[in-house]
Amino acid sequence: MYIKDLSTKKDELVTLKGWVHNKRESKTIVFIVLRDGSGMCQCILAQEDLGESMFREVAAMGIESSVEFTGKVVEDKRQIGGYELHVSSVNIIQSCSDYPIAKKEHGIDFLMDKRHLWLRSKRQWAIMKIRNTVIFAIHRFFQNEDFVQMDAPIFTENACEGTTELFETDFFGKSAYLSQSGQLYGEAMAMAMGKIYTFGPTFRSEKSKTRRHLAEFWMIEPEMAFYDIFDNMDLIERFLRYVVNEVLENCSAELEILERDTTMLQNIARPFPRMTYDQAVRIIKGEEKVNGMTTLETLEEDLKKTREGISMLEKDIEEREGIISAGGIKKGQVAFHQSKIDQAKQEIKQLQEDERNIPQWLESAKNFEYGNDFGGSDETVLTRMFDVPVMVYDWPHAVKAFYLKRNPDDDRFARGVDVLAPEGYGEIVGGGERETNEELLRSKIIEHQLPMHEFEWYLDLRKYGSVPHAGFGLGLERFITWICKLSHLREAIPFPRMMGRLAP
Ligand code: 4AD
Ligand code: MG
Repeated sequence: MYIKDLSTKKDELVTLKGWVHNKRESKTIVFIVLRDGSGMCQCILAQEDLGESMFREVAAMGIESSVEFTGKVVEDKRQIGGYELHVSSVNIIQSCSDYPIAKKEHGIDFLMDKRHLWLRSKRQWAIMKIRNTVIFAIHRFFQNEDFVQMDAPIFTENACEGTTELFETDFFGKSAYLSQSGQLYGEAMAMAMGKIYTFGPTFRSEKSKTRRHLAEFWMIEPEMAFYDIFDNMDLIERFLRYVVNEVLENCSAELEILERDTTMLQNIARPFPRMTYDQAVRIIKGEEKVNGMTTLETLEEDLKKTREGISMLEKDIEEREGIISAGGIKKGQVAFHQSKIDQAKQEIKQLQEDERNIPQWLESAKNFEYGNDFGGSDETVLTRMFDVPVMVYDWPHAVKAFYLKRNPDDDRFARGVDVLAPEGYGEIVGGGERETNEELLRSKIIEHQLPMHEFEWYLDLRKYGSVPHAGFGLGLERFITWICKLSHLREAIPFPRMMGRLAP
């Protein structure tokens, strides 16, 4: 019996197994919020039902003790899940105490050190459920469209996405690298299957601590024979829309726990703006307006709103502190105001970060140099102008990977496409049409100083039945971070690996 199915057992006797998520007690009654993985349920344990000695054992249990409760399912609309359990018998599996994660605020480093326990918290639970839904939806989308799933190798001989971010390992006395991308292998398989997708771990030794980079992350890489860059963009759009809709349909409770404003996710129904690199640069630099506003005006306005937000929150805190210090209110009321104060302080921290960042974004947007790749702040500036994902294509070929096809009408540009998520999140997808000309590819491999002999097999694909083809890579954690509106990628994966974090 699982908590999520309680509605089918109204007024019946059931047994639930789980963990003590929360507990409050009076002299003769204990209220426990039980968590069983499928949901949460308030359980009422009264001394008169359990007998004195069992009641004392129950009252002594700490948070995260494991238990088995048998009792009657009673409808109560005010409770989480809409049902509560009036417990008549108890089996304590393990009574524990001093669970390290308390209700009060902990710093992020402490929580990361306790990641193995932190996963039990409500927000983390919700994120992981959404991750599961996203993964399942991705497979369903591609399977429904007759793509064949393939597993690319993890040990590789060559670099796919540039040589600066490789993790080197020893492979029987020879250097090998952990895969940065399954794409090159995906291209080979697409020539056998037509349409394929990989779904596996990828590794980048990004030597900077940013909120957008993990050292180990999961990537989904479809590759399609006979697709050009525009077919590719159509597929990306349809794919992202499908997955987000699945989350909206199946995870409303989880999104609510995360307090996610879902209007941004619902916007996924609207067409994604597509623009060339040239146009994107004009927008970033404030030379072209979006909906009547330049980026510079939008940022100035954002800064004003941020400052207003901070002073409103400060006023709210002051008022509540006044109420508390005046006294004469119930303990519950004090706790309520205190929790609102804590929440407001958190929000202020966020806004102050924006307040510091916005002027820097403004500067770097104004000074963006045509021809450069976009940095995180450029992506933020651009995506703040839209409330749907934006697709930027036709990039200066020098800043993109060696395998991208040149635009046949203007060979300054490579047919790469990046998808940038709104709300300042930036790149979640990178992809493009592949170069099919063997000689051009060889010259690119030389230009990127890659070892030619390790790419001979890849070049074979251009010798034997070469066809136009395209594909893309979606960073799973980047996608989840945006869907859940998290402030950092590390919460989007069960056990993050990044610079400075290898444990637990
Ligand atoms: O843009 P990238 O480097 O593209 C590729 O790897 C291509 N081979 C994909 C393809 O065309 N088949 O990476 C693709 C995506 C990025 O858009 C980003 O979402 C994610 O992978 N990504 C990272 N996610 C987390 N941490 C990192 N260090 C990431 N680097 C890239
Ligand atoms: Mg990229």
